[in-house]
Amino acid sequence: MTHEEYLARVTQYIKLDKNNQHHEDEQVVLDKFKHLLTYQTGTYDQDSSYQALDTFIKTHAEATMAPGHRNRVFYMALPPSVFVTVARGLRHNAYAQDGVNRIVVEKPFGKDLASSNQLAQDLGQLFTEKEIYRIDHYLGKEMVKNMMTVRFANIFFSQIWNRMYIDNVQVTFKEPFGTEGRGGYFDEFGIIRDVMQNHLTQILSLIAMERPISTDAEAIRDEKVKVLKCIPPIDIRDALLGQYISDGDARRPGYLEDPTLTNKASLTPTFAALVLWIQNERWEGVPFVLKAGKALDSAKVEVRIQFRNVAGNLYKNAARNELVIRVQPDEALYMKFNNKLPGLSYQTIQTDLDLTYENRYTDLAIPDAYESLLLDVLRNDHSNFVRDDELSAAWRIFTPLLHKIDQHDAEIQMTHYKYGSRGPDELDAFVRKYGYDRSNAHYDWPVQSVL
Ligand code: BG6
Repeated sequence: MTHEEYLARVTQYIKLDKNNQHHEDEQVVLDKFKHLLTYQTGTYDQDSSYQALDTFIKTHAEATMAPGHRNRVFYMALPPSVFVTVARGLRHNAYAQDGVNRIVVEKPFGKDLASSNQLAQDLGQLFTEKEIYRIDHYLGKEMVKNMMTVRFANIFFSQIWNRMYIDNVQVTFKEPFGTEGRGGYFDEFGIIRDVMQNHLTQILSLIAMERPISTDAEAIRDEKVKVLKCIPPIDIRDALLGQYISDGDARRPGYLEDPTLTNKASLTPTFAALVLWIQNERWEGVPFVLKAGKALDSAKVEVRIQFRNVAGNLYKNAARNELVIRVQPDEALYMKFNNKLPGLSYQTIQTDLDLTYENRYTDLAIPDAYESLLLDVLRNDHSNFVRDDELSAAWRIFTPLLHKIDQHDAEIQMTHYKYGSRGPDELDAFVRKYGYDRSNAHYDWPVQSVL
């Protein structure tokens, strides 16, 4: 690429708002930003490429910066097969001698426990754990960052956040599109490696971990590791796997019809519901159901904490309380709540205590996950990045099941669901088995007036 082509490529998704009265200013900011970018080509496995990069950085820094410590952040948005080669090239040839170095790594961090440990070991020989930032972009999402605050800054949650009051927890990830053009990548990983072992497990650990001794990054990550270590590997009987098929419309082909997919007999799941059990005093017996799927009926990521029925309930039709944390779209936190139907009636109705961000925090711009995480890298805050021991604790939970799927073990049963549906037909019965009560399914959120 030429420098101009590079600039066009990196700015292609930046949209200036033509109706914004500050449109001119936006253009100025964008031009300034482009001015900061330089394109330097190189070959992954050639020392000379990294040496050229090093020379460029030094010359550039001398020309533009005051003398002093010059820190470097290397962000590797690269295929995993070259993580270590590139990290080695950087470490040996482009490591700042007069400042700190940080290296940012994107998933996938391995494919199972053994390959992840190997990667950690290889990277660990080049960069220290303090220098490594493993991105899980879900940790940069506003509602995910909010989970600790909600749990630990509200006294009314502290006493009920356990097996005595919580019946089951559902963490749901839905995407309305299939693998469209990413089938080649996806088939090697599948939905469990793609979003469950990482994004949904991170959410689970924030919901389930004990209170950290402080908000310090290591204190938080210590607690996450501890809770993950209490989870045994997933039992195949606690898994429902699915693959999407076309709904008959050629615009929505089935997974196996994806032109980028080479293995037309693939058994890679594009949907999974997996139940994790946390064997500790707080959570023994409470199922944590992680559900994720591509080509479903909507785009949604949410956590649904379903409380137990009220004992000796006077109000027979009172529904269970539920706390819902909607990560996306439209950040919201709401609690399903029973109330007397206003007026002369004594009927119990379900309503909600509703904190929808858009209504409450008007004019608030929520930063993109990456915006927030890259700032954390600059600030040297590891709280929202994955530590090496956390990664292996997470892989340990999923690896036996993943190996069974990879090896087409006879125990693996694959259901099918139509593109654009709610998932496999078996899903409702599956979640019911783990206590999830959908008896209030008529309850539509936000609820319209029932009066
Ligand atoms: C990525 C997965 O990590 O997360 C994708 O590889 C998935 O398959 C994406 O689509 C979802 O991220 P977001 O931020 O769009 O919810």
